Amino acid sequence: MRTSPIGIILAAGAVACAGREGAAPVTRGSFGVTRSGQAVSVYTLKNAHDLEVRVIDYGGIILSLKAPDRAGRFADIVLGFDSLGDYERASPYFGAIIGRYGNRIARGHFTLDGKTYALARNNGPNHLHGGLRGFDKVVWDVTPFGGGASGGDSVGLVLRYTSPDGEEGYPGTLRATVTYTLTNQNELIFDYEATTDHATPVNLTQHSYFNLAGDGSGDILGHVVTLNAARFTPVDSTLIPTGTIASVNGTPFDFRAPTRIGARIGQNDAQLRHGLGYDHNLVLERNPGDTLTLAARVVEPSSGRVMEIYTTEPGLQFYSGNFLHGTLHGKGGVVYRHRYGFAMETQHFPDSPNQTAFPSTILRPGQQYRSRTVYKFGTAP
Ligand code: GLA
Repeated sequence: MRTSPIGIILAAGAVACAGREGAAPVTRGSFGVTRSGQAVSVYTLKNAHDLEVRVIDYGGIILSLKAPDRAGRFADIVLGFDSLGDYERASPYFGAIIGRYGNRIARGHFTLDGKTYALARNNGPNHLHGGLRGFDKVVWDVTPFGGGASGGDSVGLVLRYTSPDGEEGYPGTLRATVTYTLTNQNELIFDYEATTDHATPVNLTQHSYFNLAGDGSGDILGHVVTLNAARFTPVDSTLIPTGTIASVNGTPFDFRAPTRIGARIGQNDAQLRHGLGYDHNLVLERNPGDTLTLAARVVEPSSGRVMEIYTTEPGLQFYSGNFLHGTLHGKGGVVYRHRYGFAMETQHFPDSPNQTAFPSTILRPGQQYRSRTVYKFGTAP
């Protein structure tokens, strides 16, 4: 056993397979051409323990993430598709970068500095995940780094995208950079940065869907979740926060002690009815002086795989895959049935541009947007 810099205990099996000193060089291949004729590349990152992540420049999508179970057996633990066409046609944001504003903005409207902006209403009456062509549907400019002969402790990709003024209705030219770093401590780190030339809301996140027992292996109701959150933001029937910040005490949203996702998901609870399960923003607890907060720990008992999530963000959208209904065919033809994956989207709170009591999501010229989230993989006995 050993302890990594950010504290998860890794079982010996998880590190015993280290075959090299450093991470492998990043490799690049073709992943086809978009409907609009843009060539798409796939990049493979591998660390010294053979943890492997494949990413495409379209949407910054994580196609696959292979991690060992407690016996050292690797499985792909994220949902996704085999072809670019499937991602363009029908993806519920599998593995993608979400922007310019992750989550919902009520009725697609907000007022900033006295001016009202209208955005696409692409989710019932509301705006969701940046609109019709959000950051999940654009081709990012990718520069790999690390690995190979240069040695070092990590390998990764820098993804850049410039969102023009007025794109999807948002004000200002936003220059966004997202860095994916895979370390030899089995961390996948997301660093988000952005600048703008006009005040605009920004809320960037990553929308990977996980099944720690393995992609396509069943529903995620047996995963045991611990959330570092004593409060959440209750929503109306269209999943817009009511504005109150409520205690999780005595509700199915209390995950302060390890609890199976399925333990209370079927309870007769108005909030669960609105979300058709969990689709809610939890307010993360922070210790004074904390930069990275432990937001979540997820354990899958049969495989022993563990994922911890650390973030600088104040919120976490916990989504239990309620909109998966057996209509999507994923990698290898697997059918994604109800709740075959879950997402944990680190973020600011939904609808913040219209909710003055929530932490601000407005970025102004001269300011630097910075956000970090770490997924850390390990195993439990
Ligand atoms: C987020 C939203 C959900 C859903 C999923 C993708 O988690 O909060 O309601 O839209 O994305 O389907």
